[in-house]
Amino acid sequence: MNPFIIIININMRKQIAAANWKMNLTAEQGQALLSAILSEASLNGPQQEVIFAVPFPYLEMAQRQIREKKGFLVAAQNCSSKKSGAYTGEVSAEMLQSIGVPYCVIGHSERREYFLETGAVLAEKVNICLQHHLLPLFCCGESLSIREKGTQNVFVQTQLEESLFHLDEAQVKKVVLAYEPVWAIGTGKTASTEQAQEMHAFIRSVIARQYGQTVADEITILYGGSVKGANAAELFASPDVDGGLVGGASLLASDFIQIIKALKQ
Ligand code: PGA
Repeated sequence: MNPFIIIININMRKQIAAANWKMNLTAEQGQALLSAILSEASLNGPQQEVIFAVPFPYLEMAQRQIREKKGFLVAAQNCSSKKSGAYTGEVSAEMLQSIGVPYCVIGHSERREYFLETGAVLAEKVNICLQHHLLPLFCCGESLSIREKGTQNVFVQTQLEESLFHLDEAQVKKVVLAYEPVWAIGTGKTASTEQAQEMHAFIRSVIARQYGQTVADEITILYGGSVKGANAAELFASPDVDGGLVGGASLLASDFIQIIKALKQ
């Protein structure tokens, strides 16, 4: 490396390690996992955050456990697109706001696939989150068949257009994006660093075209899909990868601690 080139990190957008527990762990197991992570993990700068997307019944417990740790926050994994009323089994954005939840995952590929959530419904969810001061952690990403056809860029762009592009500039700046290629989720098949960087740069260019470069530069874009302790540092080193949304490896304290340590400073 040329010793006269000094790399200055002027990128102050948030760097985030987000755990997605999905439908795993009992309350006791969740509590033990959080304790193990909290006793070892610390942040390396004010722009770093750690988010735990835990099942609804554990949100308050998790919030109590992380209360003392600055930059450690909880997220709901989903919320209803409806405001309130006769929707048995649903949880509203207003309820989440009323217990102080700061983030909500929207549009995870498992919700799109198993619960048939469409781009239009996800747009409603994003709106209702923002109305209730919940920051949407919005997921996008293509399936294997789309990647094989080579049409992943237009597919992901459409997902963004359908669910986010009605927002104004101030609103879209509140959204955290997560690019999660479906073929890499839970499969052990991580996207290569080049594939991740290429798509993240593309997503940023799409945001720039719609909202301008300054907004695009401020938006955090996480990578998700088989992120592990062993590959996080390499993935996060890419200029447009601002951390990860982590499923399987977030259930293992040692892996998730390593992932937190891999965030850019
Ligand atoms: P994974 O899941 O890390 O187990 O691949 C990621 C996600 O679904 O958010």
